[in-house]
Amino acid sequence: MVRSRIIGTGSYLPKRVLTNFDLERMVETSDEWIRERTGIRERRIAAEEEATSDLALMASREALRAAGLKPKDIDLILVATVTSDMLLPSTACILQHKLGAKDTPAFDLNAACSGFIYGLSVADAFIRSGTYERILLVGAETLSRATDWQDRTTCVLLGDGAGAVVLEKTKAKRGVLSVDIYADGSMWDLLHIPAGGSRMPATKETVKNRLHFIKMRGNETFRVAVRTLEKLVVDTLKKNRVKPEELSLLIPHQANHRIIAATAKRLGLGLDRVMLTLDRHGNTSAASIPIALDEAVRTGRIKKDDYILLEAFGGGLTWGSALIRW
Ligand code: UT7
Repeated sequence: MVRSRIIGTGSYLPKRVLTNFDLERMVETSDEWIRERTGIRERRIAAEEEATSDLALMASREALRAAGLKPKDIDLILVATVTSDMLLPSTACILQHKLGAKDTPAFDLNAACSGFIYGLSVADAFIRSGTYERILLVGAETLSRATDWQDRTTCVLLGDGAGAVVLEKTKAKRGVLSVDIYADGSMWDLLHIPAGGSRMPATKETVKNRLHFIKMRGNETFRVAVRTLEKLVVDTLKKNRVKPEELSLLIPHQANHRIIAATAKRLGLGLDRVMLTLDRHGNTSAASIPIALDEAVRTGRIKKDDYILLEAFGGGLTWGSALIRW
């Protein structure tokens, strides 16, 4: 049986750090509120000349290096993002050019914070079907460009970054065991950017009314996220006949430590078996899981044969999970 497995990971965080104390000087908030309600201490902000593809490039180069491959060895480039360099063309095409991987097919995928899991499901399906053997999958965001720095309900949460993995075909029993993705478009307005698309093209009015920035009904999103993720992780393990005690590491989307703690508690996992990185980069949407995965690999928290569970929830609404045997 053919499946996909991750053979290299990489990540990149921009140099500039914005702390909770910096934010105290920008909006009416406090380090204490942000830490207690979210678990975030600081986030990274892309330099003026950096766009999403630049972050993606750095992460991709690391992932390729870790896999021992050159860009020309890759059959498909996928970028999960909600903050593409421009509306047209895709960031994946710009990344392909920067990597020098001429002729390699490349496209973007938008599933908000679940983008990496959605991308993994596409990459895994292409590999299982025999269409491609090696795929570069990137989650990359410059959310700071879509953040309203006057809106304390969102600006304290978001950050910039990128993570990448290289997937390869394998006949081994290890690798991606399952990927499940879901959506409920009826709640699209819980988390959205109103203007800049075909519904509300950019005008002076839309700019004046700050409609090009992310709007979130945080508390409602929080409640749906907890309920949905608790069920999702239980179902994923059950489907794969893996018991929670067999799980080595949970790598959740890094949105809020209270959501993560509730999910871990549902599985009876101590936080020592959960990857937590949001204190240092906040919510980086599609980038958060591959960044956390890369850190787990580089710090030796993942060993051969370990069961690793990934899960995400985000705008759309979208959610999804993946179980990996490393
Ligand atoms: O990434 C995928 C999708 N996103 C998520 O999963 C995020 C989900 N939501 C959350 O993480 C949380 O809902 C937040 C962290 C955004 C907010 O936490 P909360 O416990 O749900 O707070 P809340 O929205 O109910 O607000 C509580 C209070 C409000 O004041 P009043 O009405 O009680 O007087 C807010 O105005 O906190 C106030 N508040 C703030 N205070 C200080 C909201 N933002 C801030 C802030 N600093 N930055």
